[in-house]
Amino acid sequence: MANALTGKFTLNDLRAARQTGRKLAMLTCYDFTTARLMQSVGVPMLLVGDSAASVILGHESTLPISLDFLIELTAGVRRGAPLAMVIADMPFGSYHESVAQGVRNVVRMVQLSGCDCVKLEVAPGHGELVKTLADAGVAVIAHFGLRPQSIGVLGAYKAQGRTADAAERLVTMAKQMQDHGAAAILVEAIPPQVSQRIVAATGVPVIGCGAGPACHAHVVVTQDLLGLTPNQPKFVPRLGEAATMLKQILARYVDEIAGGAYPAAEHQYDMLPGEGDRFKTL
Ligand code: KIV
Repeated sequence: MANALTGKFTLNDLRAARQTGRKLAMLTCYDFTTARLMQSVGVPMLLVGDSAASVILGHESTLPISLDFLIELTAGVRRGAPLAMVIADMPFGSYHESVAQGVRNVVRMVQLSGCDCVKLEVAPGHGELVKTLADAGVAVIAHFGLRPQSIGVLGAYKAQGRTADAAERLVTMAKQMQDHGAAAILVEAIPPQVSQRIVAATGVPVIGCGAGPACHAHVVVTQDLLGLTPNQPKFVPRLGEAATMLKQILARYVDEIAGGAYPAAEHQYDMLPGEGDRFKTL
């Protein structure tokens, strides 16, 4: 089993992994309890993704989640995993009006949540925002390829960069984001040849989400990994069926109450000595 984190995992460790070839795990995380578990088994990078909109709140897309809600979730994850690198997603609408609005909201996220990095779904027009944030000392992860916040124009969640021209645009985007000061790149749902070219064309760490083995780190949505969601994307490994175990425990709880096995004597509080007898007389 992987070892618990013993020291703070930083961007420098991620950069070092790019150099040494050590492959890193990253998982989405939305709460204190799970963050503690993840730190205890050595997950070095926790992404408080706007996928919380779907897996926590049940929305069909990531668009409805608010900045305030993501700040609260990120702060909980930070408290649960002080040694992990905590990456906060900036939600739809929180950085799309102007550079000034983006900077204001990123500063709020960083100050109120204690995150180490922010992640933005970027288009070429976000270069100035990425540069301004990088100049201000914020570690920005530039996310492109499949950008779920663009579902309105995409029409469906589907793999990107599958034609030579589209692939070339992604490589260009990676170089531009690096030049604007992005600390790392996250590419989602792209073919392995494309991520390989992005790795070769850049010097920053490349995190893949369904993007092939060349990436330096890999992220999936934890609920998908655990088998808790009804449909998992094809790139998510099936390593266990947590839903089956959870359902067994929940069903047993229902049965134990219905059958009177719970609460048993060991689950009950005693009155203080003598107070039970006195209570009977009142
Ligand atoms: O919000 C999210 O969970 C994400 C990824 C899975 C990359 O952005």
